[in-house]
Amino acid sequence: MTLTDNTPVRAPRPRRHPAARLACFPHAGASADAFTALAAALPEDVEVLTFQYPGRRERRSEPCAADIADLAGEAARLLAPYTDRPLSLLGHSMGALVAFETTRLLEQRGAVARLFVSAARPPSEDWGERDLDALDDADVVAELRRLGGVPEALLREEDVVAEILRLLRADHRALRRYRCPPDALVAAPVTVLLADADPKNTLEQTGGWARHTTHGFDTELLVGGHFALTGRDPDVARLLADRLLERGSAPMATPADAVREIYLAGIGGGTPALTTDLTALEEQARAVMTPAAVGYVLGDAGTGETGRLNRRAYARRHLVPRMLRGAAQRDLSVSLFGRTLSSPVLLAPIAAQTVAHPEGELATARAAAEAGVPLVLSTGSSHSLEDVAAVAGPRWFQLYWPSDRAVAASLVRRAEQSGYTAIVLTVDAPTFGYRPTDLDSGYLPFLHGHGIANFTSDPVFLAGLPDGGSVLQHWARVFANPALDWDDLPWLRTVTSLPILLKGVLHPADARRALDLEAVDGVIVSNHGGRQLDGTVAALDVLPAVRAAVGNDVPVLVDSGVRTGSDVLKALALGADAVLYGRPYLYGLALDGQAGVAHVLRCLLADLDLAMALAGCRSTADVTPDLLMPEAHPAPYDFG
Ligand code: GLV
Repeated sequence: MTLTDNTPVRAPRPRRHPAARLACFPHAGASADAFTALAAALPEDVEVLTFQYPGRRERRSEPCAADIADLAGEAARLLAPYTDRPLSLLGHSMGALVAFETTRLLEQRGAVARLFVSAARPPSEDWGERDLDALDDADVVAELRRLGGVPEALLREEDVVAEILRLLRADHRALRRYRCPPDALVAAPVTVLLADADPKNTLEQTGGWARHTTHGFDTELLVGGHFALTGRDPDVARLLADRLLERGSAPMATPADAVREIYLAGIGGGTPALTTDLTALEEQARAVMTPAAVGYVLGDAGTGETGRLNRRAYARRHLVPRMLRGAAQRDLSVSLFGRTLSSPVLLAPIAAQTVAHPEGELATARAAAEAGVPLVLSTGSSHSLEDVAAVAGPRWFQLYWPSDRAVAASLVRRAEQSGYTAIVLTVDAPTFGYRPTDLDSGYLPFLHGHGIANFTSDPVFLAGLPDGGSVLQHWARVFANPALDWDDLPWLRTVTSLPILLKGVLHPADARRALDLEAVDGVIVSNHGGRQLDGTVAALDVLPAVRAAVGNDVPVLVDSGVRTGSDVLKALALGADAVLYGRPYLYGLALDGQAGVAHVLRCLLADLDLAMALAGCRSTADVTPDLLMPEAHPAPYDFG
C-alpha cells in the first residue's frame, strides 16, 4: 500500500510490512500534525496513519465538516484499504467521536482491532461543551491556555490564533450537533486513555464508554493534563505499542477489571453511585420505588418463609477453595444448547418491569446486551417482545401458557421470528400465589396496564377480543391456563423447533417425567423466588436430586435466592449448568435504569470472576462438587 501526499489519510512514516496500524483522529481545532510526536515515538513495526479533517492545512480550501458523520464517512472510505493489517483507531477528544463513528462504519465490512479514545466522554453523553460562537475570542483563548494544548508562543501570534479559533469554532459546531444513540455499539474492544490531571474528564465520566462496546473495555491512566496523549511522554507510546502489538501483560478486559476501575476512580475521590453489595441493593431500591412497586417486586408469597429459605440454602453451604492452581485468568463461559454463553448467568424473567422504571425491559435488555448476558424475557413484559428484541443481545423467551392455544402458538412463533433462541415454559404459576404485600395494597400491575404488551401487540389475542370488550378482562381470561397438564406438553413441541426448558420444577420426578415425554430439553429448578407457593423447599436444596434424576447431559439451571458470585459457584458445584439472576437486577433498574442494571451485572460478574480466582477455578468446568463442604451433600432425599 503506497500513500500519496494528497490524500487526507497519511502515513508520516510509511512501513512496508507493519505488524499493526494505528489511525489517528485529532482534537477540535487541530490538524493531523498533532500526532507527530506520538508517531515518532512508536516502534518501527507500527504504522501510524493520520486523518486530516477538511478546512485546514493542505485542505484549507475545503469547508470544514458540518457533521461528525461526514468526517467518519470519509475516513472509513479512505481507511478501508488499510485493513489488511490489524487496524486500530485512536481519537483524541473530539477525534474520539470521529474514531468511534468510523469504527462503526468500518465494522460493517470487517474487524477493527481496538478503539483507543483519549480525553473523551462517551459518545452518548452530553459533553457539556460551551457554544464557542457565543464566546468572544479572549475567552476562547483563555480556555485554550487553561487546557495547555497550544504553546504560549503561538498564542501570541495574531494570525495563528485567528486560524485556530476559526477551526475550533467550526469543529465545535459539529461536536455540539453530534447525537449518538445510547445503544450504539462497536465490536472492537475500547481502551480509554485518561490523564490524571485532565480538567475536562474524570474516570467516572469516561467509564460510560463500556456501554458502547460488545467486546471489552479498560482504562489506562496517563500522567498529565488534557493533552497528555499528544505530548512527549514516551510511556504513552510504550503503552499503545503494547496494546497494538499485543505484548506484555496487557490483559483483555475481564469481569474482575470492574473492581480495578473502581479503585482507580477512588484515586480521584470517586465512589460508585450504587452499592456494590449485591445483598444491599434491595434496601436502596426500596427507597426509590413506589409502595405498590415495592410490594410487587420485593414481595414474597405467604409468610415469606420460602423466600428466606432460598437465601439460607446458600448461606448454609460453604466453599472449600483450592490454592495454587494458577487461576490467573478465568474462563467463565459455559455451553448451552450448542451456544457459548460468556458466563453461567442469565437474567431471570421478571414481569412488568415498568413498575420499577419507565424504560422497563428495554433498559434491562440494553444492559444485558452490553454485558453479554442473555436475557430471558417474560411473557408479562411491558414492552413487546419485538421491541425488546430490537435492542437486546442473546435472548430467550419465557412463556406463560395462555388458556387459548392459538395465542400460545402466536407468542412462541413471534419469539422464534424475533431471534429468541429458547422457550422457557413456566409451570409453577398456573395462578398467582397468595401475596399479602400486593393484596394489602390491592395492586396487580397488569390491571394497571403494566406487563401486557405481548398481548396488546398480538394479532391472535386481539382477534379474540369481543367487540367493545375490555382488553384487561380479555387478558385476565387468556393470560394463564390453570388446567395445563402433562398431556399438553408435547403440543408445544409441535409449534417450535427451539429448545424448551421447563421452569418451576422442584420434584425430581417432574423433571424426569418431562424428559421421558421428550417434551423438553432442559429444566430450571425454581420456586419462583418464593413468590408462588409459600412453605416450599429451597430450590438449591433439590438441585442435586434433580440433577441426579435427569443425568449429566440435560441442561439444569437454577434460580431463587442467587445473589453473589459465591452463590453462583455453589449452584454450579451442586450440579447447575447456569443460574438465572432475578431481583437484584430489577433493583438496579429501579435505581438507575439501564446504567443500574449494567452496574449490577458488572458487580455480579466481577464477584464471580474473583470468586473463581480465589477458589482456584480456571474455568467453569473446574467448579466441581468437591468445592463444597461434604455436609452440603446429604444423602439425597428419597423422593420415591
Ligand atoms: C410473575 O411472574 C410474578 O412473579 O409476579
